[in-house]
Amino acid sequence: MNILAIETSCDETAIAILSCEGDAESATYTILGNALISQIDVHQEFGGVFPAVAKREHAKNLVPILLGTLSEADMLKESEQRVSQTVHEEVTRILSREFELSKELFSKISVLAIPNIDVIAVTAGPGLAPALWVGVSFAKALSILWNKPIVGVNHMEGHLLTALAKKGGRSIKTYTVSNVSMPVLALLISGGHTELQLMSTWLSYNLEGQTRDDAVGEAYDKVARMLGLPYPGGPEISRLAERARDRGGNSPYTFPRPMISDAHSDFSFSGLKTSVLYSIRGKVLSDTDKENISLAFEDAVAEVLYVKTKRALLKTGAKTIAIGGGVSANKNIRDYFGNRLSREHPEVSLTTPTPELSGDNAIMIGIAGYYRARNAEFADTETLQANGNLAL
Ligand code: KG4
Ligand code: ZN
Repeated sequence: MNILAIETSCDETAIAILSCEGDAESATYTILGNALISQIDVHQEFGGVFPAVAKREHAKNLVPILLGTLSEADMLKESEQRVSQTVHEEVTRILSREFELSKELFSKISVLAIPNIDVIAVTAGPGLAPALWVGVSFAKALSILWNKPIVGVNHMEGHLLTALAKKGGRSIKTYTVSNVSMPVLALLISGGHTELQLMSTWLSYNLEGQTRDDAVGEAYDKVARMLGLPYPGGPEISRLAERARDRGGNSPYTFPRPMISDAHSDFSFSGLKTSVLYSIRGKVLSDTDKENISLAFEDAVAEVLYVKTKRALLKTGAKTIAIGGGVSANKNIRDYFGNRLSREHPEVSLTTPTPELSGDNAIMIGIAGYYRARNAEFADTETLQANGNLAL
């Protein structure tokens, strides 16, 4: 089954085409085409993502990215046929709020032959509603234009299932999901989410814990801002903390581990963020100070994440721990979990996404879309909605 996947939930516009085979127990994904435009440069001047700006950028980028993906997949061919009047009207109606995008679609996409895809997968949520809507409307328009079914994908399910995927196999463009020991306890950490989900059987979830205030990625981004570092702050803090670690890792700063001893697996990061703020207020910080603060912040984050995950592990008896979402790229979190888990629970396997799939991308939406498409969970083009708060 060939899937065309679209992701526009936040600040990356991404489209991929995946050739998918196998069943839930053993699935193989070969990437036929993959293109992504990051809006980081655009958002950097605001110090964060503005939904209206993100939406505008997605609308501008979707057609060029689709052309790039189709071309890489060798599916870019001119059509002999013209679009029927009915299809033209329907697509125009679906994109009535996206005038420029509609114009681009008619001038550059509707002149192409229908590509060799079976399903269109699109992120339906969670994320920034205006950003999600552009992707969903675009997917609906393509679904009408090409007469292909559509599946709505939960972005967090994309992160979760992608954390189970291993690179390699038939080619370097292949990922496989196989030999997964259930239950899987997934720690999903991103800019908008921090949650522990138990997947006991494929695609069934139970929420074991979540943040009561800030998401961990949000805490990274806010602390980075306090230290005068650019957006997104996660990789910046990580870079600075590594420098302090290379010096021996002794930071004069220590920050609290909120709710670490409480008998539940919920998280809280706003107190940690405030404690960083108090420790730097009124001070002129040297580069070394910033590195030491980053290190102490990262240590607090990793320990809290681990202890809470371990609590859920003991409660649920999970056999696999999967860490997914943008923050899963963090080296310290990966190392910390790797070290403690192999010491304290050698029977449990730890899995994280390959680096190129840890941040937002369309491959993860294709991977999750395949599970949904195999179950024939197709959406109705009329009623499919983007939902900024979509839960798993
Ligand atoms: O999943 P993601 O790409 O987008 C959302 O769905 O939110 O996650 C983005 C978050 C941002 O907060 C970013 O600062 C954080 O992931 N992040 C990191 C690292 N790379 C990205 N945080 C810590 N360390 C990293 N290396
Ligand atoms: Zn994400």
